[in-house]
Amino acid sequence: MIKKAVQDAINQQITREMYSSNLYLAMAGYYKSINLNGFANWMRVQAQEEMMHALKFFDYVLDRGGEVKIGEIQAPPSKWDSPLSAFEDAYKHEQLVSAWINDLADLAIKESDHATGILLQWFINEQVEEEASASEIVERLRMAGDSKSGLFMLDSEMKTRKFIPPPTN
Ligand code: FEO
Repeated sequence: MIKKAVQDAINQQITREMYSSNLYLAMAGYYKSINLNGFANWMRVQAQEEMMHALKFFDYVLDRGGEVKIGEIQAPPSKWDSPLSAFEDAYKHEQLVSAWINDLADLAIKESDHATGILLQWFINEQVEEEASASEIVERLRMAGDSKSGLFMLDSEMKTRKFIPPPTN
């Protein structure tokens, strides 16, 4: 049985992952509106990944005999000043998510909840990857600067990203 403090913190994280999903979907809409369909695709896939993260926590709470409570999800922004500023926001958001996951891992240690600690290892590794890929794209956008051809080259690369659903039991 999961302890209430851990359950509540994971429930809060479920809501945050759902916010992340909505944020990236909003970014997909923004990129689509400025005809950067590759960036829109990348963000749409990211939105699916975030929902998968929410579901991973959701299943975990239920597997541990806990109660899932979905909290209020605030509306994400819908407009950004430039392709770079949207990606900078995505990178900043991933850094925030990493801090939240870290806090959860601290709580699992404090509560001697080893099962939650193991689950969080997956998320800790995932955050390393997510921060690295967002940061790389921010850097590449900065390098492209005002070059339209640089931007469109990066955009076509981003068209290739696909959502790979996790295996089901
Ligand atoms: Fe679910 Fe991108 O953190």
